[in-house]
Amino acid sequence: MSKVLIINGPNLNLLGKREPEIYGHETMEDCLMRLSKICEIDYFQSNHEGAIIDELHRVGFNKSYAGIVLNAGAYTHTSLAIADAIKAIGLPVVEVHISNVHSREEIRHRSLISPVCKGVIAGFGLDSYRLGVEALIGK
Ligand code: DQA
Repeated sequence: MSKVLIINGPNLNLLGKREPEIYGHETMEDCLMRLSKICEIDYFQSNHEGAIIDELHRVGFNKSYAGIVLNAGAYTHTSLAIADAIKAIGLPVVEVHISNVHSREEIRHRSLISPVCKGVIAGFGLDSYRLGVEALIGK
């Protein structure tokens, strides 16, 4: 069975409580429970840019993973350092967003990480993570 690492960036530890009109009422734990029926899932969340980069480096050359699903949160729009880390590693990374970032404020339309990701999924609520996982394992 393939393994996928999901990385969530800043403020995504508050899913279920944070702006539910945008991000919904479900917690990440609910979502992970569902995803674990599809394939083996590892999960990492941090509010810190460097910690996300360390995690990308830690797993990024480990061939037992099919790839990484990354919701970099607001770092999507600002972090050249995370983009460089994605470019440096060997595993494919799928960029995901819960909300449709293109229907929101203009600053959210720009992603520094999209050009170095395998693909982008946005706007399907927490189902964006499932679509990202399935894209990586080829379902
Ligand atoms: C987000 C969109 C980002 O613009 C925002 O900063 C987030 C969450 C999403 O999943 O929709 O924290 O990545």
